Amino acid sequence: MMHSFLPVLERIAEEIEGLAVRGRPADYIPALAAGDPRSFGMAVAELDGAVYGVGEWQRPFSTQSVTKVFGLALALAREGDALWEHVGREPSGNPFNSLVQLEYERGVPRNPFINAGALVVTDRLHRLTGDASGSLRDFLRAESGNHDLDFDRDVAASEGEHGDRNAALAHFMASYGNITTPVPTLLREYFRQCSVEASCADLAVATGFLARHGVRADGSRLLTRSQAKQINAVMLTCGTYDAAGDFAYRVGLPGKSGVGGAIIAVVPGRCTLCVWSPGLDERGNSVAGVAALDRFTTITGLSVF
Ligand code: DON
Repeated sequence: MMHSFLPVLERIAEEIEGLAVRGRPADYIPALAAGDPRSFGMAVAELDGAVYGVGEWQRPFSTQSVTKVFGLALALAREGDALWEHVGREPSGNPFNSLVQLEYERGVPRNPFINAGALVVTDRLHRLTGDASGSLRDFLRAESGNHDLDFDRDVAASEGEHGDRNAALAHFMASYGNITTPVPTLLREYFRQCSVEASCADLAVATGFLARHGVRADGSRLLTRSQAKQINAVMLTCGTYDAAGDFAYRVGLPGKSGVGGAIIAVVPGRCTLCVWSPGLDERGNSVAGVAALDRFTTITGLSVF
């Protein structure tokens, strides 16, 4: 198996070590506020199955909004294009937890990666499977090969205690008929999904189906080639919220961030990456994470452009 990028990762880890500005961990729940901005891990998974990394690449953390990609893949695989009647695919240009567009766009969120859109996707997946968070966890276990991967119950409970804004989003969309699961059930499912604990290694490997044009780890097909392209495109344009333009400019890869400090990225046909460092910029993206991915595509010349 190839470890083609290990020297590149080692060089990046060294450069990140010297990065003075690291951002601040999310502080809306205690579990995330305890994160150390100096923590850093980065993993690459190649299509031949090789996975390797630098720093704390095997240490589990709170995956948060990175899971929105996997929820979208499962919902799109089951529902097909009808999913897009419930959620759009345009960048929002607003913060991830913004309410402002929902009223004049009549309860249909801009894209599946802002919180409102992810709540809609969780609603669809829950209708289709009867267990949105369980099907997501099972999928992540199967794709990563880590069968211990699980929710963090304390994080899920803590999200619930600080969940007024997500509750407002869900109730507002329910008033337009765009959410059909009872809101308390939907929020429980969404918070469990956000609370998944996984490492850079787990997430890099689990994202492989997006580099394999929709084919899962066991060789079966989850998405059509075209659907895999669609998800990668939405990651590129919406995966880092109101910083997606800057992320595309600097990194040039489909990517998805979470407030736990992780970012996954896809080099279609080649490899997948996950980087983690808990210090965030003001738009909720990991400062060291974006810097590391920026260096990766600059050094290797790999990007979708
Ligand atoms: O819904 C929330 O507020 C969080 N549990 C997850 C948000 C998140 O990760 C957005 N990302 N940057």
